[in-house]
Amino acid sequence: MNYQNRTVIITGASSGIGREYARVFAGKRARLVLTGRREKKLDEAREEAMGLGAASVELIVGDLADARTASAVEAIAGDRNTAVLINNAGFSHYGNVAESECGPLLDMLMVQAEVPLRLCREALRGMRHAGSGLIINVGSLAGRVAVPGSALYVATKCFLERLSETLALEAAADGVVVQALTPGYVRTDFHRDIENYQEKRQNRGLIRWMDADAVVRRSLRAADRAHRRLRSHPHAIPRRRDVIVIPGAANRFLGALSPLVPRNLVYRAAMRQPRR
Ligand SMILES: NC(=O)c1ccc[n+]([C@@H]2O[C@H](COP(=O)([O-])OP(=O)(O)OC[C@H]3O[C@@H](n4cnc5c(N)ncnc54)[C@H](OP(=O)(O)O)[C@@H]3O)[C@@H](O)[C@H]2O)c1
Repeated sequence: MNYQNRTVIITGASSGIGREYARVFAGKRARLVLTGRREKKLDEAREEAMGLGAASVELIVGDLADARTASAVEAIAGDRNTAVLINNAGFSHYGNVAESECGPLLDMLMVQAEVPLRLCREALRGMRHAGSGLIINVGSLAGRVAVPGSALYVATKCFLERLSETLALEAAADGVVVQALTPGYVRTDFHRDIENYQEKRQNRGLIRWMDADAVVRRSLRAADRAHRRLRSHPHAIPRRRDVIVIPGAANRFLGALSPLVPRNLVYRAAMRQPRR
């Protein structure tokens, strides 16, 4: 697809995977709309993107759990010039549900489920008119398992994966590609609040840490492949490998294994994990 002067919305672009997507689409001379709470980091992202060739960069600074921030992004998503929407913003919150305040749990539901759904709906309507488009919802392999202390994280990531699969089927006839990017561990700011997290970012067995640029490369390669296929076979049913994209061979192995492992074993492994 040609992204020159087309709008590309990336939520959570102040660091990590979102920032990496911003670099790639800047190089394709797109009009970037970048969101996040850390204004200084977003300013840096804008400067970098302009240096890489972005046609323009608009920043929306604020918490996506705040309805005003979410509405500002939603208004742009419905614009017919929007070619790409990347629902990437996400955070971790640790604590058993019974011991957590309601606030952080509901914020997560908003940032990682309600807002992505609203943005998908708006973007799909505009993309349908344009006859093409790309939506990437960033899930997680964690959405396939049970993780005590991270119930809402797991549930929202599972939601995003299932939502994306169905939207991919609904939108294919309109020339729109929908992808659930489902990474394992990635070296970003995501784990920065975990004690000794630098030490914990070590590969162990099938646990393989990846860099954000490799994750994004894999995602966009799959998106290009899906677009080429839609162009040559407009009535083709999307393929699983283009819809659920799991970067990294070890992660793909874990992803293929997850539905086959008896759930009781999953529970036992989850309970054996050290609590934070
Ligand atoms: N890193 C991993 O191991 C891993 C694995 C699987 C999936 N993921 C997913 O990948 C996505 C990107 O995370 P990352 O690894 O790149 O981590 P990151 O570097 O921490 O990036 C997260 C982005 O989301 C934004 N964000 C978080 N909460 C927000 C909120 N309430 N309102 C607005 N923006 C918010 C952050 O911006 P501000 O802090 O500036 O608000 C930041 O730009 C997340 O959805 C995460 O769940 C990460």
